[in-house]
Formats: sequence, structure tokens, C-alpha cells
Amino acid sequence: MPLTEIHLDPKSRIPLYLQIKEQIKDLILKDILPEGKRLLPTRELARILGVNRSTIVSAYNELLAEGFIESRVGRGTVVMKKKPAQESDYNYEPLNWSEFFAYFPKTNHYSLYRDSDSLFTQEDIISLGTGVPDPKYYPFNDFQKIISKLLKEKGRIMLQLSSVEGCYPLRETIADWFNFEGKSTSPGEVLITSGSNQGLYLLAETLLNPEDLVVVENPTSMNALRIFRAAGPKIIDIPVDETGMKVDILENLLSRQRVKMVYTVPTFQNPSGTVLSLSRRKKLLDLAYKYHVPIIEDDPYSKLYYERIPPLSLKALDKHNNVIYLGTFSKILFPGLRIGWIVAAKPVIKQLMPVKRLVDLHSNTLEQHAFYEYCNQGLLEKHLQKVRKIYAKKRDLTIAALKKCCSNLIDWNKPEGGYYLWCQLRGGLNSTDLLREAFYEKVEFIEGKIFSTKEDREEWLRLNFSYLDEDLIEEGINRFSKALCKLRKRHKIGSSKEVSSVKPII
Ligand SMILES: Cc1ncc(COP(=O)(O)O)c(C=O)c1O
Repeated sequence: MPLTEIHLDPKSRIPLYLQIKEQIKDLILKDILPEGKRLLPTRELARILGVNRSTIVSAYNELLAEGFIESRVGRGTVVMKKKPAQESDYNYEPLNWSEFFAYFPKTNHYSLYRDSDSLFTQEDIISLGTGVPDPKYYPFNDFQKIISKLLKEKGRIMLQLSSVEGCYPLRETIADWFNFEGKSTSPGEVLITSGSNQGLYLLAETLLNPEDLVVVENPTSMNALRIFRAAGPKIIDIPVDETGMKVDILENLLSRQRVKMVYTVPTFQNPSGTVLSLSRRKKLLDLAYKYHVPIIEDDPYSKLYYERIPPLSLKALDKHNNVIYLGTFSKILFPGLRIGWIVAAKPVIKQLMPVKRLVDLHSNTLEQHAFYEYCNQGLLEKHLQKVRKIYAKKRDLTIAALKKCCSNLIDWNKPEGGYYLWCQLRGGLNSTDLLREAFYEKVEFIEGKIFSTKEDREEWLRLNFSYLDEDLIEEGINRFSKALCKLRKRHKIGSSKEVSSVKPII
């Protein structure tokens, strides 16, 4: 009788009655106990196994509940004729995961542009859409040396948890950059973040309520729009012209409505490449002081200038600490190690710290030390001197190729820094239609509409010039131009009168 072969482990955390139940169930499923077979009476099995009768009663009750056995009058407990349904007998329907997701405000902007994580997997596509530096010029050897030295000399501390606000020497270095520009700043006013995107997310979490009003530029960074949309405030945009945000329009708004914060990318703006002039910077700060509004200055590109040095940052010019500054190594070095920083008044940093702790405890210890070492050895400045020349050349190559291939169909600016050409299609062409054509030509860019709250920039698009290998720029623009010509053909436009009647760009 197989029931006598049940083995019990009194030390197991599984209760005895469940051990018995599972072993009997196993015997039934393997047909060792066939349909109709009588099980031993509870008293007898309890005696054989050396347990209380109530233990066997509980085990049988479990089997009864699951339909493996039944009690029959006059016959005792028998194995069920028909075994209960197993998982494979169910008509299994896969989970519809969207029913399980918590409410999250919709980003509400469809783009043909693929998510960046798939960007680098399709090798045959030439990307004019990305926003990253050229990997060929990453200071790989320097970082390799620095990281192995850190691990060798500092040992396991480099793999240990560290302070939420970030590595002190790195915060000191960042504070010193501002001190050097005449803005007295202490390490206590610096919080290291995992990229400036995280910095903006932390700020939105810390400062914004759904009923608030946030001002952004039009056009503005699409990541910033995504973060603000998720936080739920009302977003109002202020147009940008060739010298940055139109602060007179902002003044008009501030005089009428309570604004919670103004978000700006004042230097080599993404996507328009514009630089807010010094006089507008001063005016913007005056408005911030007058109307008691914090300014979020997102500044990933200012060190990438190719002509004149841009004006001082708003933060460096800020006399009363209204400016919350976001910086990052992503554009000036490389984006993969995810280190950025927030520079703000101490009460802001104090309020941000618990939110940062909640999100990821602190930014990566080893990487923070590696960036500090890199800056401390004077390597950052050398790297910048090198890449400024490279990106200036790439910008010029891109513009030269555009001039050659499609100057009758599109206008563009010539930014003095940063990564992007901000372009306007002529003759009413639409950049979403163009992107569809571009995919057939195996080239991509970013449609203008995703840089605006109202998605009203349909004839605009952003071309990146930092990422592509110099040798591929002309081919990329050729493909882009082919797509453009095909689109124009489909739209049956092209009379020279119509083409030349567009407004100046931005
Ligand atoms: C204006 C702006 N801010 C922030 C970021 C993201 O920087 P990070 O990689 O540090 O998150 C970008 C990148 O595209 C950007 O253009």
C-alpha cells in the first residue's frame, strides 16, 4: 500500500498535514493511486504515520476541497473517478497587462520616432535623430585607467553605498565652477543625480502639484514635456526667437497669472539651438525676482560652443538664488554613466534629498568618483577643446550637404553650439509625413511637433549633427533629401514662388 510509504519531515517548515496531502496528491496524479481506490481510514493512517488523527483529517479535507478524493457512504474515502482539472485543461487567456497598470498621465504624443533603446540596434538606419555625442570620441582609455585605479586603490568602498547628496569632491568641483564665474556656491548647494533627466524628475516630484502652472519654451525639450505632463500641472508655452525665450511675452503672463516655475534651456537650446541673449537673461531674472518665481535652468550644452563663448548661465548671474540649475556629463562626455547635478538653494536641496533617496538611494558611487578624478586631472577641459572643433566641423558638413541637396525645400539655422539644426520645411510639407518617407530611405530625424505642448510644429524637424561619423553625414543628408523630394512629388508642390514665400525660421 503506497500510503504507508509517505515520508514525513518533522523539521520542515511545511506543516505535516500539507506534506501528507501533497504526497497523496502526487500518488493520485501519477496513477499509483488509481480512480476508485479506497484510502486508508484516517485512524489507521494516523497510526501508521505516527501522527494525530486530526492531521490526517486535515490532509483529506484539503484533497477533498481540491476534488482529488470523495467520501462515499459505506465505502469510506476513495480517489475521484475524474481527476480535477489541471492547468493544461483550462482555456488559458494571457493577462492583459494594461488592466493592471496604475494610472499614469498619458504622454499623449505619438511619434514615429523610435524609442532610443532600439536606436542603436538597426545598423542600416542612419540616425539624424539622436541627441548623443559621437562614441568615437568618448575618452574611453582615460576612464578605463581611472576606474581600474579607483578600484585598486580605494577598494570595496567604491562598490559600497554612499551619501544621498553625492560624492563630496565632485560636489565641490561643481560648486567651484560657479565660484569661478563669480557666483558664490558651496558643495551643500549641489545634489548629484543620475543624469539631469532624473534631476528634472526629482524637481517635478518635489515642487509641482497638479493645479500648478508651469511655463516652458516653444519649442522645448521633449523629455521635459514628458516629465511635466506626468506630474500633471497646466503647461503654458512662450515662443522662442533667434535670441531665446521672448521674455516680454512671459512678463505679460506673469503679470496676469500665478506661475509655479519657468523651465528654460537658455544656451544652445534643444531643439532650436538658440542662445538667450545677456539682456534677456537679466530681464528674465528680474521677472523671477519681481514675481517670486523659481527658474529651472537646464544646461547640458553650454560648454559645447563653436564660435563665441555664450553669456554666463542664469545661475551664475542669479543674485537671489531663484535659479535651480541642472547640469550633466551626458553631452560633454558620454551619456551611459548617467551622472548629472542640481545646483540650488540649500532648502531646495534638503527637500530633494528624501525624494532622491526614494528613487535610487544615491547615484552610482564608482562613477561619481571617476568623473571627479577626470575633472580633477584637467582632462575635461582638454576633451572639450577637442570636441568643440569636431562638432563645429560636423555641423558645417551637415549644412554643406543640406545646401547641396535640398536648399529649395527646407530652411535651417546655424547654431553656435550644441547638437542640433532646427529646420522648417517649405511649401506646407509636414515632418510626420516626411519621417514615413525617411524610414523607406533608412534615415531618421525627430519631428518638430513633439517639442511643443500644442504639437503645432508640424512643418518643423530636428536634425542632429553630433552623433554621425563624418563619413556618413553626406550619405545621411542624401537619404533625407531623397525622402524630401519624394514627399514633395506626392504633394505636387514646388512652384518657386510658393517655396520662397516662407517666413524666416524660428
Ligand atoms: C535639454 C536637455 N536636458 C536634459 C537632457 C538629458 O540629459 P541626461 O542624459 O543627463 O539625463 C537632454 C538630452 O537630450 C536635453 O537635451
